[in-house]
Amino acid sequence: MQNLLYFFASIIFYCSVRSQDHRQYRQVHDASGRLQPPPPFNESYQMIVLTGGKVYGTPVEANTATEDLCMPHRKDVVMAGGRILSMMEPSKTAAFINSIRDSQLTILPISVQDQIIIPGLVDVHVHAIGGGGEQGPYSRTPESHLSQLIRGGLTTIVGILGTDGVTRSLSSLLQKMKSLEHDGLSTWMWTGSYRIPIVTLTGSLQQDVLLIDKVLGAGELALSDHRSSWPSKSELKQLLSDVRVAGMLSGKSGVIHFHMGSAPTKIDLLWQILNETTIPIQHMYLTHMSSRGDDLIAEARKWIKAGGMCDFTADAEMLNETDTINTLNKFRAEKLPLKQITVSSDAYGSFPQYDSSGRLISYSMGLPDLTLRTIQNLVLKHSWPVEEAIQFSTANPATYLNLKRKGFLAEGYDADILVLNQTDLSPLYVFGRGQILKTPTWIKHDMFEHISGSP
Ligand SMILES: *[C@@H]1O[C@H](CO)[C@@H](O)[C@H](O)[C@H]1NC(C)=O
Ligand SMILES: *[C@@H]1O[C@H](CO)[C@@H](O)[C@H](O)[C@H]1NC(C)=O
Ligand SMILES: *[C@@H]1O[C@H](CO)[C@@H](O)[C@H](O)[C@H]1NC(C)=O
Ligand SMILES: *[C@@H]1O[C@H](CO)[C@@H](O)[C@H](O)[C@H]1NC(C)=O
Ligand SMILES: [Zn+2]
Repeated sequence: MQNLLYFFASIIFYCSVRSQDHRQYRQVHDASGRLQPPPPFNESYQMIVLTGGKVYGTPVEANTATEDLCMPHRKDVVMAGGRILSMMEPSKTAAFINSIRDSQLTILPISVQDQIIIPGLVDVHVHAIGGGGEQGPYSRTPESHLSQLIRGGLTTIVGILGTDGVTRSLSSLLQKMKSLEHDGLSTWMWTGSYRIPIVTLTGSLQQDVLLIDKVLGAGELALSDHRSSWPSKSELKQLLSDVRVAGMLSGKSGVIHFHMGSAPTKIDLLWQILNETTIPIQHMYLTHMSSRGDDLIAEARKWIKAGGMCDFTADAEMLNETDTINTLNKFRAEKLPLKQITVSSDAYGSFPQYDSSGRLISYSMGLPDLTLRTIQNLVLKHSWPVEEAIQFSTANPATYLNLKRKGFLAEGYDADILVLNQTDLSPLYVFGRGQILKTPTWIKHDMFEHISGSP
């Protein structure tokens, strides 16, 4: 408790400094000593306490038995200063709230009786300024909407360019990621696009990774795809060494995120590079691995067994896709290490479908709620334990990409939190760095439509 109070005091200091920035905090406190009803959720609070929920996604302790892993923790979650201040024993929470009632803090206790509390989702593949364009100018996809990102439960996103690295620019993407960061999400990005020589912000891949905090690596670099520039093995070796060294120097994981197409060459070049060089497999992060047929899924299985990381694009329900859910079920039954798999939405990317002669037969766009829908499907339709189903968009990407204080719920982690309805797993609350991002039942969706870019 001593430690807690000390941390708490520093948070008060942090909050008071922060509040001088630009916000006015209103005190939720009256002379009678009773808490008033909460003011509208469009205001900021210095402390929010979630009581009565079932918490999943805490870091695994080395000696935890497997069966404990799937049990929720009955803890109350105290958020302050953008972080999780405490995961509190529920029996102590009322006394804690009472003890600070006379402070200068605005506090909002929210009872989430028996609902599910998980870490905010991390989506590594979001075309945040739009993508597509493969059917000519009219087929460019629109820029991301903050409201849709929040409704999809995403609190951390990694922005990405795609096929079009000419009329879509990295500087525009970087600015968009800064804007979303201002709005309460946490954001990173990939430099480059589908093709080589890769487009960059500063003139080189190494400089982008090393000098620009938000750049984690390069992507999505297309391989075995008719829209790829078919990089040679030596060009790929060079890029992979560059990203590895830049990652080492900047303290990032330093990876290339490879978009996999459906050409029969699959990931052959990468296998050869692994054979011929000492570049570790950790720097090669493959995506769309479950969406291009059984041959590529077989490669995904080999890649994971070799220690590599695969990303699966969430199934688009409107297209009746089931590849990702099926592959996850299969790999789980085979007891593959699921930690080496992530699931992302490919939101705002185009989903063109071609026939065998390469003619386009349909064209649609992914939305950012596909990641959460994957979790809902795994749990509700395929009886996965919540703890296992959430890892693909929480712990796994955060750990692999070395995103500090993301992906788990524990003291000191960022207060990126999702409260889900325990019956249908729809989001009830989304918190980004300790602030409420969305409350569907309290705030109309359209209130958020214009927020991105507000002062
Ligand atoms: C919050 O919303 C309420 C009710 O819609 C409004 O009266 C108030 O001015 C808003 N406060 C801020 C800080 O925008
Ligand atoms: C990599 O090396 C192993 C062992 O020498 C060999 O069996 C395999 O065929 C090689 N793979 C490729 C793609 O070169
Ligand atoms: C998806 O499946 C439903 C029901 O089987 C069908 O009516 C619909 O046309 C399918 N949609 C697509 C895009 O194939
Ligand atoms: C949770 O979902 C169920 C089923 O959709 C619904 O009946 C219930 O009202 C929801 N609970 C909350 C708190 O929204
Ligand atoms: Zn792609």
